[in-house]
Amino acid sequence: MGLSYLEICGGRPLDGELEIQGSKNAVLPVLAACVPGEGVCTIENCPDITDVTDTLNILRALGYRAERAGGTVRIEASGSEKYEICGPEAVRIRSSVLFLGALLGKMKKARLPLPGGCVIGARPVDLHLRALRTLGAEFSLTEKITAVAPRLHGDTVRLPYPSVGATENVILAAATAEGHTVIEGAAREPEIDELCAFLCLRGADIRRLADGSIHIRGVRRLGPASYRMRPDRIVAGTYLLAAAAAGGRVFLRGCGGEGLEALERALRAMGAVWRKTDGGLEVCAEERPRAVPYLETAPHPGFPTDLQSQLMAALCRARGSSRIRETVFENRFRVVSELRKMGARIEVNGDCARIEGVSRLRPAVLEAADLRGGAGLAIAALQAPGRSAVLHTEYLARGYEDIGRDLCLLGAQARIRGIRCTDETKEKEEYSELQRCL
Ligand code: UD1
Repeated sequence: MGLSYLEICGGRPLDGELEIQGSKNAVLPVLAACVPGEGVCTIENCPDITDVTDTLNILRALGYRAERAGGTVRIEASGSEKYEICGPEAVRIRSSVLFLGALLGKMKKARLPLPGGCVIGARPVDLHLRALRTLGAEFSLTEKITAVAPRLHGDTVRLPYPSVGATENVILAAATAEGHTVIEGAAREPEIDELCAFLCLRGADIRRLADGSIHIRGVRRLGPASYRMRPDRIVAGTYLLAAAAAGGRVFLRGCGGEGLEALERALRAMGAVWRKTDGGLEVCAEERPRAVPYLETAPHPGFPTDLQSQLMAALCRARGSSRIRETVFENRFRVVSELRKMGARIEVNGDCARIEGVSRLRPAVLEAADLRGGAGLAIAALQAPGRSAVLHTEYLARGYEDIGRDLCLLGAQARIRGIRCTDETKEKEEYSELQRCL
């Protein structure tokens, strides 16, 4: 076993700028949307993260040619008629479930394992299955999901909750189904509109109306397309919160802050200055933020659950008392025990956390337990004078190309360090040394 960790020497304000990588939550459904139709799809600004690597391997196993050259990924269909996904990648990443809609659209059948992903809650797929049944799919569930839809047809799908993944699965299946599909109660996340824009470039007929519903007229075929992914708003939000937490200034080149309106309100409440310019987005903050009396996460346009851990970390040293309610995933407070190791004062009561700001955090060895939680711990470490380590960088690698590199560009002292996997004794020694040093 190898050990790699993110080392951060914190306690100093940020000052720097960078360009934000392409969006993870948009590119994963876009890659699944390469399954139906013909021709070559070229995706530019495709983030180099492990969730993308896993998705490319799923496509390869399905018989597609998938190549990366720098930030550009090229997907080419080969006439393969495979409809089953069985590699370990499919279990590892939650978004593998999107191949259900994509394969139903192409092959009218699909088989895949129940999806995994970060353990941030129960994460069932009942809404996906119920919605796809409306379009004519039938399922049998064992340790795998097996789906058939001899006649996939349009219909009105009413989602009782605006699930991002269920909305995307319906779009993927309906794009080439017979007839007209309407999704009422569709999720409104901007990543869904990116998926629709990509499919429309390929020849699909999809529109979102002002009431939020999505209307899809099935087309016979989808063709080639070239698409550039927009900046990842969660990665952008992470670095803006890092500035609010550590103080200083960050400038995100080419980022307009789209889809981050709820974060903008929170950052302004924390006393940060948010300024959009022609070239990008700048956030400046004092040494200690103000508390946020109450904030709850919610589906878009509410405050994103994917930024909740980072916000919590940024409020640990706020002046005053903050309260956060998590309404989307029930298991998002796993960072709390790690933040307490640093001297944070946080009490959890059900889905609510109360954070009493302290004047100083102390460095520590911290264990990430999920992707965004890991980013939250990095933000906490930036505030603690001295050397901290965030273990389990494999979670961070799912969504951040290189968080150490990015934090350095923003003026922090940070880097990802690895302990050689081949030498287990040395690895143990280095690990003990790390614990001792901190
Ligand atoms: C997507 C994002 C994830 C983000 C989440 C909410 C991707 C790859 N991931 O995840 O980063 O945190 O949206 O913004 O885009 N639910 C059910 N039944 C279902 C589906 C969902 O009960 O069939 C519940 C989930 O358990 C969760 C809530 O609905 O409590 C939100 O889930 P959903 O919007 O589907 O999130 P994901 O698509 O998994």
